[in-house]
Amino acid sequence: MEVLAFNGSPRKEGNTSTLIRAILEGAESGGAKTTEVRLHDIDLKGCMGCLSCRSNPGICKQKDGLSPYLEAMKTCSGIIVGSPIYMYHVTGQIKMFIDRAYSLYTPKEDGSYGTAIPPGKTYALVTSQGHPDPNRFQRAIRWLAGMTGSGFGLTEVGRMVHVNSHLQPAKENKDILEEARKIGLSLVAKSNRHSNSNSPKFEI
Ligand SMILES: Cc1cc2nc3c(=O)[nH]c(=O)nc-3n(C[C@H](O)[C@H](O)[C@H](O)COP(=O)(O)O)c2cc1C
Repeated sequence: MEVLAFNGSPRKEGNTSTLIRAILEGAESGGAKTTEVRLHDIDLKGCMGCLSCRSNPGICKQKDGLSPYLEAMKTCSGIIVGSPIYMYHVTGQIKMFIDRAYSLYTPKEDGSYGTAIPPGKTYALVTSQGHPDPNRFQRAIRWLAGMTGSGFGLTEVGRMVHVNSHLQPAKENKDILEEARKIGLSLVAKSNRHSNSNSPKFEI
């Protein structure tokens, strides 16, 4: 059982990274093997727009540091996606990952999309923002959850919308660290229990 985390924060010790690591700790305590993909630190290239994935669904022709992890999304049990809010939206690193993950959406004859990711996997989402209102960037957060979670038929088990306070960053907040560990346990406990439809469900 493997849990894969895609971390879109460039800051190794920042809030997104801290919360992702706490979720991974929870998953490990539930018996999972975990991998954190720090998108800022791998050789990450953008989508080439070649549309090769439309004739070879599930395969991205761009080859780089992300390639093995796009493959691992098909076989892992749970996926975490995390991003700070930059300029009212996700970071550029996460957007590059999402564009490449287009290759995992499989076109159907009626114009809709299925997915190359088998059903039964779990999903958790982490964001961190400076603005004090946790609802301020809901549109971007819902979009992120749609593109990387429900769109692939993953079952969401937790969503952390962290508000960055200089008085208490995530690593000093025991309550949210505990919440993150519980989400990690749920990622493991609930994977393969749900069989989701292959039809993407977006709410943007
Ligand atoms: C380039 C940049 C743009 C940002 N834009 C926003 C923004 O639009 N709204 C917001 O609330 N915070 C914004 N922030 C603040 C970060 O979202 C916030 O500090 C967050 O906690 C950083 O996450 P991290 O600790 O995981 O790096 C921005 C920060 C940077 C560096």
